Amino acid sequence: MRFCALLLVAAFGCDTEWIDVGDSPTDRPTELDLGTPFFDGGEDGDPEFVLGQALFFDRELSGNRNVACATCHVPFSSTTETLPLSIGEGGTGTGPTRSIGEGAVLPRNTSGLFLSASSGALFWDGRVERNGGSIASPIPQPPGIRTPLEALVLVPINDREEMRGQLGDIASDGFRNELADLDDPIAVAQAVFARVIAIPEYAELFHRAYPGEAHGFEHIARAIVHFQLELWDRRDSAWDRFDLHGEPLEPDAQVGSELFFGDAGCSRCHSGEDFGGDDFHNLGIPAFGPGKGDDGIDEGRFEVTGDPADRFAFRVPPLRNTRLTGPWMHNGAYATLEGAVRHHLDPESAWDGYALSQLPESLATTVRLDAEMKGEVFATVTDAVRPLRPLTELEIHQLLQFLKALDGDSELLRSPSTAVPIAVPSGLPVDVWPGGPHPFR
Ligand code: HEC
Ligand code: HEC
Repeated sequence: MRFCALLLVAAFGCDTEWIDVGDSPTDRPTELDLGTPFFDGGEDGDPEFVLGQALFFDRELSGNRNVACATCHVPFSSTTETLPLSIGEGGTGTGPTRSIGEGAVLPRNTSGLFLSASSGALFWDGRVERNGGSIASPIPQPPGIRTPLEALVLVPINDREEMRGQLGDIASDGFRNELADLDDPIAVAQAVFARVIAIPEYAELFHRAYPGEAHGFEHIARAIVHFQLELWDRRDSAWDRFDLHGEPLEPDAQVGSELFFGDAGCSRCHSGEDFGGDDFHNLGIPAFGPGKGDDGIDEGRFEVTGDPADRFAFRVPPLRNTRLTGPWMHNGAYATLEGAVRHHLDPESAWDGYALSQLPESLATTVRLDAEMKGEVFATVTDAVRPLRPLTELEIHQLLQFLKALDGDSELLRSPSTAVPIAVPSGLPVDVWPGGPHPFR
């Protein structure tokens, strides 16, 4: 049933579902510790990890059995893609070889999955969000969902363009796509669980991971989130070694950190463990791509709250491993990290001087830099994004060195193939890095 309390509608549109979770646990099961050994998830390993890993890589979760979470959140590409805008189900390849095929271009850039348990708001528009004892979700959720990250799992699975497919589609195995026939997210969740549990190896994995429980979709969500957190919820960067253990940063990164928290004003928005925020701001990022909704533009937080002041505002993104997760911004408008940082110094000049050459031609032709669009976007742009004083070229370099100090040093980044299973229980193909050895090795 749709719950649409007046108080909440003031801040969120009526399309938001509210799940009452009371004092549910946070996503993070344990305190983070720099010294946590990397978990290998082997034969005798944690069964919940093994289950979550299989599900994260298994195309069985998509209507047409042609896309997995890992197709877009590519471990070899630091849990993101190298594309400005993601490509949905029907696309072919993964990482740098992903191409449109029969898929659709999605409105947004794929988010990284690092330290996401510390975020109260998820997605670029915060449409999954914790609010006291409730979680906001754009779709109804099955019982047993306890945290924002768990609530997020059904969203891409239920989305027709992302994973579910269109009415009448025939799946990659020649069978009818039964998930596409359904019009209720809860029924989709049940049908995905029915698919998975029908595979004997999964039935065994669920039994091992959650013994003595009646299993359902919530266990799919729980296992995937557990897998994500084991691998990617780590404080293992040069910054953490400084912050937690007092090991000195490189001199330029040290000055960069002082600028970040001081005159550059970055920490007014990017703060906390993940250097993100649960706030939303319009930075005046050039608009392109298919947009959200009928008007073909992506109005960001406004799409969730319906509040005109939120037009074109996007969530302050986490900056963990940001150097490795380009292109940058909600639509991947910037091909370099330096371009993304420089945009903050003067959004209007950045809009006026935006270089189309940093986009693939298919997207460059959709960029809207005209006066009308600029007027609309800049009507709600935030003033508080510029540094507290002008920065020198050297200082910009130092800020970039500080961002580099946020790169994780975990086994995942050095040898991400550890994250990738050799096979998954459905027997469907597993996405591997195209064309030979992994670039970090
Ligand atoms: C077709 C590509 C694609 C697939 C498949 C996909 N994602 Fe994503 N993911 C994205 C994009 C694009 C975003 C950003 C969307 C937005 O903000 O509106 C995203 C955002 C997220 C986020 C939010 C992170 C944050 O900090 O806000 C999480 C968590 C996530 N995805 C997990 C998953 C899981 C789990 C699956 C599989 C059930 C999955 N994704 C499948 C493309 C994909
Ligand atoms: C007013 C709040 C605010 C301030 C101050 C701010 N940022 Fe941001 N930052 C944002 C928002 C919001 C975005 C995402 C905008 C979008 O995609 O539409 C962003 C995006 C970024 C990105 C791209 C991340 C990604 O995943 O694509 C980087 C890098 C970044 N900021 C670094 C900085 C640095 C360095 C500073 C200080 C010079 C800074 N920011 C100051 C709000 C802020």
